Amino acid sequence: MYAMIIEETGGPEVFRYAEVETPPPTAGQVRVEIAYAGVNPADWKNREGHLAQYRPYVFPYIIGFDAAGRVAAVGEGVTTLNVGDRVFTPTNHGQGGQGSYAQYALADVERVARIPQGLEFAQAAALPVAALTAWQGLFDRGALQAGQSVFIHGGSGGLGGFAVQLARWAGARVAATCSTPNVEYLRSLGVEHVIDYRCENIAKALAAWAPGGVDYLMDAVGVSTLPYALDLVKPGGTFVSIPTLVDDGNMPAAAAAAAKRGVTRVFSTMDDTHCAATLEKIGSLLVSGDIALPPIKEYALREVAEAHRVLQRGHNRGKMVLKVADLD
Ligand SMILES: NC(=O)c1ccc[n+]([C@@H]2O[C@H](COP(=O)([O-])OP(=O)(O)OC[C@H]3O[C@@H](n4cnc5c(N)ncnc54)[C@H](OP(=O)(O)O)[C@@H]3O)[C@@H](O)[C@H]2O)c1
Repeated sequence: MYAMIIEETGGPEVFRYAEVETPPPTAGQVRVEIAYAGVNPADWKNREGHLAQYRPYVFPYIIGFDAAGRVAAVGEGVTTLNVGDRVFTPTNHGQGGQGSYAQYALADVERVARIPQGLEFAQAAALPVAALTAWQGLFDRGALQAGQSVFIHGGSGGLGGFAVQLARWAGARVAATCSTPNVEYLRSLGVEHVIDYRCENIAKALAAWAPGGVDYLMDAVGVSTLPYALDLVKPGGTFVSIPTLVDDGNMPAAAAAAAKRGVTRVFSTMDDTHCAATLEKIGSLLVSGDIALPPIKEYALREVAEAHRVLQRGHNRGKMVLKVADLD
């Protein structure tokens, strides 16, 4: 099969288009023929070598978590999916497997979801990591309730676009930060109180909106951009950080400071075990129009270096995908 591989960690220039062996699915696995691969900030961090604490770097190495396409082969014991089914998945990349910047990738069947009618491959490829992380940070780890005041720091990125909408769908009142060019975008997603971090004081703006602090805060940017975040959460509230791997501070100290203030402090890394059901639920919310897809920028697989350059600047609105193949 063909793939964008790296043979050393480094800048976007390390990507190389190459032919590599097509992986056979083992028991319980599915091999997906990929139409589109999704791009996430974890991918450029992976390319630079920041994921070394989580996985061995064995070269040639294929980066990329998210994929959408068709089931091309199934391993022994797989009975719920058939060759030809339209699927999307965060693949087995988080478990040390090769990634999705390739013609094929493997995934355990429990992390492969069916694409609902009405969603295209490019749209489905934009979902897994960003939408699952948003869902888990809000509901599974954050126990968000209807009627709560919710503040999403970083509402206009891939993850933030899902987080603000899912919080609103769950019945919360939502405030979120973004830069000036994204203010109208966040309003269009239903954010009640948009805070332009480039020209507003976040603490003052939030205090006027939720006196005494918010019930729930999600930091989807990094601790250095909101060092006083704990002060913005009311006692008894919840403060969820999405670990960035590059800007997370001292987590045990942060947890201890929150406990002193009666705030539940959570560091919520995406868990993709048995994620197919959650992905299908999110897909159905998109099809029903309860939430909308963020804007999706499309690049060809061979243009991945440019996609990484743009994403790494840290101000991409919505999501980014790589077109791998024309599949029906
Ligand atoms: N640990 C995990 O399991 C996990 C999973 C998913 C994501 N993440 C991490 O979560 C972070 C967000 O992911 P993403 O996919 O949303 O990234 P993204 O698509 O690159 O979005 C980042 C957003 O951050 C905003 N931003 C940049 N500087 C800011 C600042 N000073 N104040 C407020 N907002 C600022 C930008 O909005 P503007 O352009 O409007 O400034 C941008 O849209 C990344 O670090 C990613 O690696 C971790």
